[in-house]
Amino acid sequence: MSIVYLNGTYLPIEKATVSVMDRGFLLGDGVYEVIPVFAGRLFRYEEHIVRLKNSLSLIRLDFDTDTLTHIFTEMIEKNGGGDQSLYVQITRGCDPNSVRKHVFPPASQPTLFISSSSLRFKNKAELAEGAKAITLPDTRWQLCNIKAITLLANVLATQTAQDAGAIDAILVRDGFALEGSTSNLFMVKKGVLITPPISEHILGGITRSFVLELAHQNNIPVQERNIHETELATADELWFTSSTKDIVPILTLNEKTMSGGKPGPLWEQMIDLYLVYRQQLSTT
Ligand code: PDD
Repeated sequence: MSIVYLNGTYLPIEKATVSVMDRGFLLGDGVYEVIPVFAGRLFRYEEHIVRLKNSLSLIRLDFDTDTLTHIFTEMIEKNGGGDQSLYVQITRGCDPNSVRKHVFPPASQPTLFISSSSLRFKNKAELAEGAKAITLPDTRWQLCNIKAITLLANVLATQTAQDAGAIDAILVRDGFALEGSTSNLFMVKKGVLITPPISEHILGGITRSFVLELAHQNNIPVQERNIHETELATADELWFTSSTKDIVPILTLNEKTMSGGKPGPLWEQMIDLYLVYRQQLSTT
């Protein structure tokens, strides 16, 4: 049975309830993180906390993240250790007068919810099977760097992708391919690894920054630059990255076969580096 944490208490997921007046429920007023856990250990923990702090600060929600470390450790243990993924959501809580108003309540207690999903991360052969992607217009708001729980545009894009048999949609704004609806985007062209730069139009993915770090360490040429939508069709390789997808080669884009229908050489190199690092981390 899955154990969750809600405002100071560990309890079975079926028993966890929040008020209908919670601003997360009424207004989507909150932020979240998804942190992978390998062999009982949080992966890139500091980076996730830095991003969470940034999201909290950008929505002007005062919350002390120092308390989280201990709760995460407990949660991992209570959910059987091993491989899992922690979901952390912090909302602005309830208005003490039980009213629904857009403006911040004078004094609300944030709601902290943490859950765990058991996860079986794919091995190299499974990842190499690759995935299909489609392009869609980016209908999200202007502040995609905030990991906000307000995800309706992402939900619709992901569903449209799934309806088309695709794993994710590459979102296009003003002619530029930015990221997936649940992942970051990488393109390989003539041996250079290219990904859109950090801006308010994308989420600064933790997997993205790790892939860039590995590329720099291994002298793989990198460019953080805008990718025009028209460049996608002639890319040598395209990948999605995320904490739950790892690094997935896109082998079909809008029904067109990419990179000869099999993962390219740079993906092969990167996935080996990535999986070796993760393996070392979980055994040290
Ligand atoms: N999504 N961009 C978007 C829009 C995302 O939702 C995500 C992750 C990423 C990749 O970030 P990271 O590498 O830190 O997982 C990029 C998570 C997994 C989710 O919403 O469930």
